[in-house]
Amino acid sequence: MTDRPARPALSVPGIAYGGDYNPEQWPEETWAEDMRLMREAGVNLVSVGIFAWALLEPAEGAYDFTHLDRLLDLLHTHGIAADLATPTAAPPAWFFRAHPEALPVDQDGRRLWYGSRQTFCPSSPAYREAAVRIAGALGERYAGHPAVVMWHVHNEYGCHNLACYCDTSAAAFRDWLRERYDSLDTLNDAWGTAFWSQRLSDWDEVIPPRATGAQPNPAHLLDWRRFCSDELLSLYRAEREVLRAASPDLPATTNFMVMSGSDKLDYWRWAPESDVVSNDHYLMSPDPEAELDIALSGDLTRSMAGGPWFLMEHSTGAVNWQPVNRPKKPGELRRNALAHLAHGADGIAYFQWRQSRAGAEQWHSAMLPHAGTDSRIWRDVVELGADLRALAEVRGSTTPAEVAIVWDWNARWALELPGGPSEEVRFEDRVRAWYEPLWRAGVAVDFVLPDADLSAYRLVLVPSLYLVDDAGAVNLTGFAERGGTLAVGFHSGQVDENCRVRLGGYPGAFREALGVRADELRPLLPGETLPLSGGGTASLWTERLALAGATAVAWYTEGDLTGVPAVTRHTYGRGTTWYVATSPDPATLASLLTCVREEAGVAPVRAVPRGVEAVLRRSAAADYLFLIDHAGAGAEVTVAEDAVELLTGERAPGSVTLAPGGIAVVREPRRPSA
Ligand code: GLA
Repeated sequence: MTDRPARPALSVPGIAYGGDYNPEQWPEETWAEDMRLMREAGVNLVSVGIFAWALLEPAEGAYDFTHLDRLLDLLHTHGIAADLATPTAAPPAWFFRAHPEALPVDQDGRRLWYGSRQTFCPSSPAYREAAVRIAGALGERYAGHPAVVMWHVHNEYGCHNLACYCDTSAAAFRDWLRERYDSLDTLNDAWGTAFWSQRLSDWDEVIPPRATGAQPNPAHLLDWRRFCSDELLSLYRAEREVLRAASPDLPATTNFMVMSGSDKLDYWRWAPESDVVSNDHYLMSPDPEAELDIALSGDLTRSMAGGPWFLMEHSTGAVNWQPVNRPKKPGELRRNALAHLAHGADGIAYFQWRQSRAGAEQWHSAMLPHAGTDSRIWRDVVELGADLRALAEVRGSTTPAEVAIVWDWNARWALELPGGPSEEVRFEDRVRAWYEPLWRAGVAVDFVLPDADLSAYRLVLVPSLYLVDDAGAVNLTGFAERGGTLAVGFHSGQVDENCRVRLGGYPGAFREALGVRADELRPLLPGETLPLSGGGTASLWTERLALAGATAVAWYTEGDLTGVPAVTRHTYGRGTTWYVATSPDPATLASLLTCVREEAGVAPVRAVPRGVEAVLRRSAAADYLFLIDHAGAGAEVTVAEDAVELLTGERAPGSVTLAPGGIAVVREPRRPSA
């Protein structure tokens, strides 16, 4: 978890509930109905103005705030707070006609056109100036408006325009590299440019990784990813600064996308810059266990926030950007929303309030569907509002965890660069595979960077950390040396921060602490498996691994690697280290990680049947136990004698019954000794 200095907080009472509200898409007659229905649903916060730039500034420097003035006044009259956005994710057409150079260029050198959203070059001075100007104008006008409780800066930075490859971006990339490396010699060394005659003799020779005929340089690509994240972050900071100057007491946020396959930004660098950390989460249709993704996403966001966070967007039903867009199953809207809350969200919001009639997202679900209030979604939305009111006291509570999982976007980017041993090894898959058994068992987990303070944890898991710098490696191995339990997954510790291989055998930085050494990596083909001693199978990856102090816990029983260790355990200093040199099948991995966890003395928050998610949030006075039945079988769970189930408000002395697909949120008072 990150330690965060005190920041302005969101001042909405209880759990914030609402969504993106885009009334500019509708005639003003609908607004009164919106207000009435928002109140009926218990909506207390909406995000406004996200895509309203063309309306607010119809021509350069000419503002028209009449619409927004009326809207904010109306919201305030109805007791609904506003998260006021800067509209900078969608510059108007006039901007691009005046500044065609601000349109982004793709890797092949094609300049894109306006006509959608987020189609601008992140390094464009004209864009930056225009974005800061409209943010400043909004700050000045609305800083004291009683409806405005938070600034929503931009929208999902980098969602569509992570990188631009134009000459302006090239110059900005050079500046960023100069800052990092100081001299061209250092850069040449870091990038290993002796290879393929890539030596750079003049800063002007440095270009973005534009399309090439053969494989690019991995260190070049990695620095480009870092630059792209930082470049957008500097845009966020620039807008936030003018807003902060206008209203030091209002929190600023921008919505992250930490999961759903998103590997765009290094959100560890962004989180400390957000007063309120917000995240967006969408279900991926082919994912049979989207609830696992929600949990992981929530724990990751909570860890970056260092406590409660805000779910800025998710969907009430189908999205419209997957090949086939499926609605949610009965009860799933409620389960999803309350799972985000269980994993630390203090606000639950949707894209969007009213389903659009026109435009690119007309088939995306919303809180108020095309069908109107006589609809399943609307009824669910109203019921969820009542649930959230019943859970108001949960706000601000945190999550005690004794397990940390290392998550580093640098390691992810480096692992997934072209030219590695296997394209089948994906960072998110690896982390999810290790997270899953802990989640199933009801074990609380934080996510951390490799150099985080680990003193609060008993167990640190490193499912995938291909890249690690010396400080991170020393921190992780030192944790074990001082008595902790450290478990490391294959292909970790292999390269330093510049993608240079750590020599002498694998897994590079962790060899000594793990008491093993491999001299050859042997990834498996898709579908290929090897049997493991003790049952189970290995897939994806193997190594010619030798013991160097560790004990083999499992080994291969067939093929060239017969007898070679696949899982090892080692006593290191006062602690224990484990190495998982392959991808065991899910059941084998689950029993292995259960054994590692139990040995480390980490218990679940509550014993629950399979398919029931158990998550704990804790305040000074009470524990809040969230129980969610994903299996649809119903369950009986033991709770404290003086427990109260908050959704029904009923006492639950000693046990609580979950209906099939149901949810319970149980308040258990904390004993003085707890
Ligand atoms: C993103 C955007 C929203 C909307 C949704 C649709 O999260 O921020 O504006 O496009 O996707 O799922």
